[in-house]
Amino acid sequence: METQILAGDATGIESAARLLQQGALVAFPTETVYGLGGRADRVNSIHAIFSAKGRPSTDPLILHLPEPDLAKAIEEGWVAAPLPKSATTLSKAFWPGPLTLILQRGPKVHLEMTAGRDTVAVRCPAHPVARKLLQAVGVPLAAPSANRFGRISPTDAEAVREELSGWISLILDGGPCSIGLESTVVNLVSPNPVILRPGAITAAQITKVLGVTPTEPFSLSRQGDSQIAPGQLASHYAPRTPVFLSLQPIQNPLPGAFHLLFQKPSGAFPGPSVFLDAGGNQETAARELYRALRKADAAGSEKILVDPVPQGPWANALQDRLTRASSGTASWNGQSWKLTPRTAA
Ligand code: TXA
Ligand code: MG
Repeated sequence: METQILAGDATGIESAARLLQQGALVAFPTETVYGLGGRADRVNSIHAIFSAKGRPSTDPLILHLPEPDLAKAIEEGWVAAPLPKSATTLSKAFWPGPLTLILQRGPKVHLEMTAGRDTVAVRCPAHPVARKLLQAVGVPLAAPSANRFGRISPTDAEAVREELSGWISLILDGGPCSIGLESTVVNLVSPNPVILRPGAITAAQITKVLGVTPTEPFSLSRQGDSQIAPGQLASHYAPRTPVFLSLQPIQNPLPGAFHLLFQKPSGAFPGPSVFLDAGGNQETAARELYRALRKADAAGSEKILVDPVPQGPWANALQDRLTRASSGTASWNGQSWKLTPRTAA
């Protein structure tokens, strides 16, 4: 299959909408990462998403709504009533935007999409191309991130091409994503809200709006490998090159490694490196993280060594993605680096 890239203008959106209506798959931009969309009401499109990604059928997909309107989603059968009050509050506060809510599945949602669960992940993206596309298609889209399973999510059209060229017919190019990390996922089916995946919408923002503090299993304050279930770690969000997380700010190069620096080195760093100022504007560091990991991967080094994530509003999300991408930790003993591979806990 030949993969075409079209600009996300009126013509591109019209072609994409037509292909989607016919049941084909299209990659499209959202403000977080690019999504691989297919009609949520067609089981064949859902099967095609799993096979294009090489994703196991046990990993559920997110339903993308054209309107930030949960009452309408219930009316149309995508979400089941009664809606928890927190869902209305959060959707009003943060949609369209980078927040995914786990709710009870409505009768219209195929079990293939939710991997057999009675819950469904729902979000209304903010990117204007995504909004216009969803409105033009006229039905919600099932859309995971547009990467092959276990790989880094794409944050521009070129990265989607690297991942899915030959697997899908069209990529809509909406430029680089403004957020660059996947949406915050909050489970609202449990008695208390639980953040299943940290992202741009932080626990503090959710607390402010709900008046209830969500549980955060991946919080930095509970740092350590045990923070993520081992099964989730295996090969998630990972470059091909093994990633090691340095336990101290990197001052010395690791031979054969590409370095991802979050703290500004005092002079020129003596080794291949890219600098993302996570000690300064973390929003920029988050936006550029996946592009930097792709660059590091393409450099052909044996390993990627990553600086510790400084504290800040994006620290949980950055730490979560880096931990999932990593094969272990690295520590400098004054003379050399010692690498400790992750042990399956
Ligand atoms: O920012 C995003 O959310 C992007 C863009 C394209 O919207 N999408 C995305 O989708 O990251 P995906 O499939 O790569 O990640 C979806 C996450 C997975 O961790 C999945 O396990 C979780 O949401 N998820 C989906 N449905 C769920 C459910 N019913 N219960 C719990 N977790 C669910
Ligand atoms: Mg993904």
